[in-house]
Amino acid sequence: PEKVSIKELAEKMKMQPSVIIKKLFMAGQVSTVNTELTYEEAENIAIEYDIICEKEVPVDVIEELLKEDEDAAETLKKRPPVVCVMGHVDHGKTSLLDAIRKTSVTDREAGGITQRIGAYTVSVNDQKITFLDTPGHEAFTAMRMRGANSTDIAVLVVAADDGVMPQTVEAINHAKAAEVEIIVAVNKIDKPNANIDKVKQEMTEYGLISTDWGGTTEFVPVSAKSGEGIEDLLETIILTADILELKANPDRMARGLVLEARLDKGRGPVANVLVQKGTLHVGDFISAGASSGKVRAMVDDKGNKLKEARPSQPVEILGLSDVPNAGEVFLGHETDKEAKQYANTYLQQHKKDLIEETKAKMSLDDLYSK
Ligand code: GTP
Ligand code: MG
Repeated sequence: PEKVSIKELAEKMKMQPSVIIKKLFMAGQVSTVNTELTYEEAENIAIEYDIICEKEVPVDVIEELLKEDEDAAETLKKRPPVVCVMGHVDHGKTSLLDAIRKTSVTDREAGGITQRIGAYTVSVNDQKITFLDTPGHEAFTAMRMRGANSTDIAVLVVAADDGVMPQTVEAINHAKAAEVEIIVAVNKIDKPNANIDKVKQEMTEYGLISTDWGGTTEFVPVSAKSGEGIEDLLETIILTADILELKANPDRMARGLVLEARLDKGRGPVANVLVQKGTLHVGDFISAGASSGKVRAMVDDKGNKLKEARPSQPVEILGLSDVPNAGEVFLGHETDKEAKQYANTYLQQHKKDLIEETKAKMSLDDLYSK
């Protein structure tokens, strides 16, 4: 549905329809409770209402409206799968991606520990796959959760010489909560003490039963070191993706997620984003959380300059006014004004959250001091 009636909008905003009707009337538009508004019109009303009345902020309305932003079936086109690589620290996630990409990111990491979400595009027989590399260290739960929530398929990496460990279990839970397909990559099979069956056995406890044991989960034995099994893993990913029939509408305003963002001394705010719907172009107006701006430049994971980024493509963008939070939704907008409105609304909502957080914290402190 591309439209919403004034009655529905009023219900969502928890206000009388007459307020909206009056507002439209003042702007020269005659309407009734049954008058249908486009989502854009509805959003504008919600935003304006939000900015005028500082108290009850109906920002949820905007979010709700955005959620219903479904594309018509005939606009959908096949898109590459987004695959999140997860697992316990040091089980070989980054090494596996290095082996797939024929790079050596692992060697460049401080202390050999991944501390950020890396996003890469790989082509296998003309089929693209987007990989998100997540950290396995226990401190990075939020990043794993973000990874699981941005993805279609989770590749769970378990070292065959170590077996199921705490962050393996955590990763399983994130993947299950996000309702994504799980493929298990049993890594380090080149090691003399590797025990694939032991991993399979341990995984049954979490409901992941190997297909050769009568279950439905694909277990692929691999070695990031020798390269064994990597072809199989890629094939399994592509087969799984084919079954999922992943699609998105590339011909609309872009929308996606901020994977990571930072302030670069020379270039200003830099954001790594994953386009999920639509196409993002250089020159597009965007918002992400409380920041907004115009895409000044886009670079892919290999450092190539891009003019546009399509669904499932991860890109680094320049041009935002501030550094948005990781995990934030980014949206393309028709105008600079609209992008700024979104950012402003978000900021107001956020301010309220911050005040509430502080209040909650204060009352806890009070409690403890008694
Ligand atoms: P975090 O991102 O910090 O959680 O670690 P990770 O899962 O990305 O592990 P990483 O790829 O950094 O590898 C950890 C160590 O295991 C490195 O010393 C790798 O060389 C080694 N390693 C990874 N895969 C294999 C493998 O298949 N065989 C052997 N023998 N060693 C491996
Ligand atoms: Mg790593």
